[in-house]
Amino acid sequence: MSSRQQLLQLLVDGRWHSGEDLARRLGLSRTAVWKQLGLLRDQLGLNIHSVRGRGYRLPEKLELLEAGRIRDALAESTHDWIGHIEIHDNIASTNSHLMEQAAGQLQSGHVCLAERQSDGRGRRGRHWVSPFGRNIYLSLFWEYGLAPAALSGLSLVAGLAVIRALRQLGIGEIGLKWPNDILYGNRKLAGLLLEVVGEQTGPSRVVLGLGMNVRLSEAEGESIDQPWVSLSQLPGGAALSRNRIVAALLDNLVAVLSQFEAQGLAAMIPEWRQYDLYHGQRVILQLGARQIEGIHRGVEPSGALLLETAEGIRAYHGGEVSLRPV
Ligand code: BTN
Repeated sequence: MSSRQQLLQLLVDGRWHSGEDLARRLGLSRTAVWKQLGLLRDQLGLNIHSVRGRGYRLPEKLELLEAGRIRDALAESTHDWIGHIEIHDNIASTNSHLMEQAAGQLQSGHVCLAERQSDGRGRRGRHWVSPFGRNIYLSLFWEYGLAPAALSGLSLVAGLAVIRALRQLGIGEIGLKWPNDILYGNRKLAGLLLEVVGEQTGPSRVVLGLGMNVRLSEAEGESIDQPWVSLSQLPGGAALSRNRIVAALLDNLVAVLSQFEAQGLAAMIPEWRQYDLYHGQRVILQLGARQIEGIHRGVEPSGALLLETAEGIRAYHGGEVSLRPV
């Protein structure tokens, strides 16, 4: 463990620590501790309070991610599916990290988590706000014998897995917005970014990236260009452990990813529909520069959105849906 990580382990309790005590416990000089504190501020964006005579502390207690705690909380049936669990305290993007290795030796069930992303990526080229220790940034690698084109419904089933996980953790009143946003009311709680590489006829290698706001502060979320919400603001959400949430997410993702290979999205459409917040509503689909208005008539087994317009019901594969303002 690096000195920076050891220092972090001491500070996560949110209490005051004198410079002298930190130096003694880390076996470093006071100057070296002071330098490491600077790294935590500059590299991880941590807000470390410092008061003469008291020392240093984080503004609040933090629960760091730990592979052992995540594994302990996994369901029995998930254990064999999950391989290596990498945890980074700072990375550009967990998805980019796995995508860089996707052509190599990765095995299905390889997990990459980060406490912070410096270049978190959302769908449609958006940035994903990823401050240290407050949210979940998770990527899971999976390999399919299927051709990439056969995986178009996968991003919808992944959304369903997130709903199932949250419901298991006691979180209700959440729903889906096509293709895979997880919302509470009309505010975004989590989003998925699926990236696929493969030959035209298969196999396909998938990196499934999930970002979930767990304890995002108002200030950190200021730059997000759409309404958002954190799990901690939802009934029953404030006390949840991030390690426990990650385990529940992995349990449910692994279950749907393996089910998808055998049955595709078709078998899960009725359940998807149950959580589809915009079904039957008048929506606007932004497709590149085009805007198509129509009534949301559900999803196809391919994952396409069915939109009823004056020309009848048509299926759309890409784009972003919003509710038509009344
Ligand atoms: C969206 O726009 O809704 C998708 C957001 C996906 C964010 C996650 S965070 C973990 C993984 N790494 C990334 O860079 N993006 C995904």
